[in-house]
Amino acid sequence: MQLAFADTRNAPILVLLHGFPLSREMWVEQLATIGCSYRVIAPDLRGHGESESPDGAYTMDEMADDVVELLDRLEVKQPVVLGGLSMGGYVALSLVLRHPGRVRGLMLFDTRAAADSPEAAKGREEMALAVLREGSARWMIETMVPRLFGKTTLEKHPQRVEPMLAVMERTSPKGIAGALRGMAIRADRRGDLARITVPTLVLVGADDVISPPSEARELAAAIPHARLEVIPAAGHLSPYENPAAANDAIVRFLNHLDRPAASGKRSTPT
Ligand code: MLT
Repeated sequence: MQLAFADTRNAPILVLLHGFPLSREMWVEQLATIGCSYRVIAPDLRGHGESESPDGAYTMDEMADDVVELLDRLEVKQPVVLGGLSMGGYVALSLVLRHPGRVRGLMLFDTRAAADSPEAAKGREEMALAVLREGSARWMIETMVPRLFGKTTLEKHPQRVEPMLAVMERTSPKGIAGALRGMAIRADRRGDLARITVPTLVLVGADDVISPPSEARELAAAIPHARLEVIPAAGHLSPYENPAAANDAIVRFLNHLDRPAASGKRSTPT
């Protein structure tokens, strides 16, 4: 007897890339909620979390290739929905441009396509040298916190700050320096955005002061099939700070992605 069965194997695979100097732990709310319905893969990028921290600058292309290597190791051959926050967004842009066949939908959270200005790149090198010299990034993290989180999180949900502080403090000086140096030499992707042909969702925290909504609006306008969602009451870590609103936007995007395919496959009654 051949039993009837349901199989969710075709459910979208969602790959989520964290920001600097965080880890996959920043996707805790997406793994818990969206992970019930979709396969969510959230790696620690090189130099972060439990992944290795090799010497040298971590280019965005290298980090993108690391993610493709992981997908190969997991035997994920079908194109995935790829999301990245800030530095993870730089990596996601690199991945979709280098390996377009591996991506069927793109989500860019609190990120930008422009490269660093020469002053910003110089500042990153100075920071990398200082972190390596002191063997600690505590001071760097302390200066980052008021800019990473939105005012609603800092005033009304301060308990959300501590877990991310702990993640940042566990990032090794070598990992921090490698990522800073890689971001400093990243390419300006603005001229490549028109080549992105997959449906794209650009998300930004309403109170993001690092990659503000004005920049997200420009990013969405430059990508052919992109739309913008502004996450209220959130700063630079929008999917972590306001997971209910971010998850709602993500799930609507995933549902929208699958609707045309599902109706295309529907057989006509005879
Ligand atoms: C991040 O959150 O990943 C950083 O703000 C990226 C950057 O420093 O450009």
